[in-house]
Amino acid sequence: MPPTISRIVQALEPSATITMATKAKELKAAGRTVYDLSLGEPDFDTPQHICQAAIEAMEAGHTHYTPAGGIPELKQAVVQQYQTAYGLEYAPNQVVVSNGAKHALHNAFTVLLNPGDEVIIPAPYWVSYVELVKLTGAVPVVVQTRQEDDFKLTVEQFRRAVTGRTKLLLLCSPSNPTGSMYTPGELSELADVAIEHDLLVVADEIYERLVYEGHRFASFATVRPGLQERTITVGGVSKTYAMTGWRIGWTISPANVAKAIGGLQSQETSCPSSIGQYAAIAAICGPQECVDVMLAEFARRREFVTRRIAEISGLSCAEMGGAFYAFINISEHLGRSYSGVQIDDSTTWCLELLNKQNVATVMGFAFGTEGYARVSFATSMENLAAAFDRIEAFVV
Ligand SMILES: Cc1ncc(COP(=O)(O)O)c(C=O)c1O
Repeated sequence: MPPTISRIVQALEPSATITMATKAKELKAAGRTVYDLSLGEPDFDTPQHICQAAIEAMEAGHTHYTPAGGIPELKQAVVQQYQTAYGLEYAPNQVVVSNGAKHALHNAFTVLLNPGDEVIIPAPYWVSYVELVKLTGAVPVVVQTRQEDDFKLTVEQFRRAVTGRTKLLLLCSPSNPTGSMYTPGELSELADVAIEHDLLVVADEIYERLVYEGHRFASFATVRPGLQERTITVGGVSKTYAMTGWRIGWTISPANVAKAIGGLQSQETSCPSSIGQYAAIAAICGPQECVDVMLAEFARRREFVTRRIAEISGLSCAEMGGAFYAFINISEHLGRSYSGVQIDDSTTWCLELLNKQNVATVMGFAFGTEGYARVSFATSMENLAAAFDRIEAFVV
């Protein structure tokens, strides 16, 4: 008999984005040309000056354990960045550097949640939130948002979801998978409800710098005085600097929460990668033109994707204010037969699109919202053009 896996891990859903990307890779390995719009990572190389800083760190011998919560220079750099960009005053002991923002979220949930606590998660949500909350024994309370509200949680929806067991609200702006962004006014209305019910807010701001013209990012903790005491801000270098493989992210939280996260991390992983931390300092403190260059390219692709979605009959999406995803409404194309295959849901739609047209996307179902498919435009224009031609051929 093979060993029995724990109940809590058996209950975990594997990441659908990774599952689709793996399927795409398998087809590629079998010799097919696949147009992969499934994965959420910038297709650019990490900028050279950041790689150089990592080489220098290795040569200087920074290849050992660091303090569990990160090196002081990086914590200071993060504090300085939030001060300069958003006017937020934090002390370095409120920052904990982790192995990517995903790990930072896992840490935050683990130190804050008890079994039975409720966490309000607006859907569509990033695939890992629900699973990470479940790992703690807490209960994800999913609230379905609407395309006509730009997939943003309304105050009324928030109020209705709060119970005596609610511990925290999870917000992601700019959003993966929809690209939608809360305005400062919307955030402050939500903040009022959080204050009224004494709730914590985890603000996942990993896409804070990938924001398009006409939109303005607001860090949740800035929208009302006193919010820093109830906000855990999650950020990192993965998306802004094309550094997904370096695994550096962080939480900024009240000092007692940061202390608990540091303690947890010291037992879990000892510390984040020493070399990655030095690279992250170069990213945050070094020249920022690289971010502008990548953002300009994302903006070009966003425009293209927006136009192609509008041109294809029966498809639509909300405006993307930030990040690099479009969440396409495919509901008009469900409930019919495609070359003899009946397609009634987003999972079958995405799998058939991959099988028939070699285009990899991710089913809305994985983000908690049926009737949609997510495409990532963190891929070349050529890929996008070919993929959208194929999507069009698939649905007509
Ligand atoms: C909304 C959101 N939060 C967190 C993460 C995790 O980022 P990291 O690679 O730093 O762990 C991602 C990555 O896809 C994301 O989309």
